[in-house]
Amino acid sequence: MGKGILETYKKFLPITSETPIFTLGEGNTPLVESRNIAKEVGCKSLFFKLEGCNPTGSFKDRGMVVAVAKAVEKGITSIACASTGNTSASAAAYGAHLGLRTTLIVPKGNVARGKLTQAVAYGAHIALIDGNFDRALEITRELCERHPVELVNSLNPNRIEGQKTASFEIIGELGKAPDHLFIPVGNAGNITAYWKGFVEAHQEGLSDTLPVMNGYQASGASPIVDGHVVEEPRTVASAIRIGNPASWESALKAQNESNGVIDKVDDDEILMAYRRLAAEEGVFCEPASAASLAGLLKRVNAGESFKNKDVVCVITGNGLKDPDIANGIEPVSLDEYEANVDSVEDALSLP
Ligand code: F0G
Repeated sequence: MGKGILETYKKFLPITSETPIFTLGEGNTPLVESRNIAKEVGCKSLFFKLEGCNPTGSFKDRGMVVAVAKAVEKGITSIACASTGNTSASAAAYGAHLGLRTTLIVPKGNVARGKLTQAVAYGAHIALIDGNFDRALEITRELCERHPVELVNSLNPNRIEGQKTASFEIIGELGKAPDHLFIPVGNAGNITAYWKGFVEAHQEGLSDTLPVMNGYQASGASPIVDGHVVEEPRTVASAIRIGNPASWESALKAQNESNGVIDKVDDDEILMAYRRLAAEEGVFCEPASAASLAGLLKRVNAGESFKNKDVVCVITGNGLKDPDIANGIEPVSLDEYEANVDSVEDALSLP
């Protein structure tokens, strides 16, 4: 408990005697069983892997701790990434922990407020660009070629190595891989990492089976599903507002090797799943994270049966990161009362 990814998964990671070992408490996130939505799905079990419980509130910390450890091992003192928000918050946190200079290139107006607040608090150097994530990534890659700065986007293989550990945790809890994994897809690093984790765990004899991988893009940002780059990706789910995913090929590989699907869900489906997770399960996630459940519900509504299946939906980030979306759906305007029991009692229909 609390040992972190580097210590816990040493054996499965590219760690040497020279690699510094540290943690902000990443990994070991809860696998919470659905009490309500599972009934509608009609499956044997439905679990939510709560990656928003990581130290910076998203799954990015699993990979960032490995990428930063390997950078420090090489003697690098400066890291950089492009981001829709979560990668940048994570890079900034681990950069601060290790005393590195962290540079973030982020698309102006496309990053949720909580995520930018985190990056500022951690003391990162931030450049907002008048362009989308895909352009920000191109710029960052070039800057990292020109300067002695380590790229910590998921193009960095150490990020994928760290993120694959979530599959090990799920197998550890269920005793085997689930029958189906549902996961949001943006830059496509995470679906790549989960599949790598499941395949390695299977090879190690930790699970007799492999899951079917079901990845979901937002319909205004669905290059993999549509088979072409999307120049101006649009969706309420800003974390996955990506038109040219870096790990496109390996996401297709995960889909094909697992007999899975990569499909899309529209913003209404995403927001419905987002609200239901909070109101019916007590799980408050950010909009992009709800794409996994939205995908599952879309399939159930289309008549697919998940009878006798163990299903896991990955819930990638914490709802507190994007308060503007939550507030936009149900604006917080609360009535005020005099501070005495009678006036409050009159106003509330208590049982
Ligand atoms: N969910 C959340 C909350 C994310 O932040 C991201 C990606 C994804 C899902 C998709 O994961 O890119 O590996 O397919 N966020 C990146 C970022 C792009 O910059 O924070 P992916």
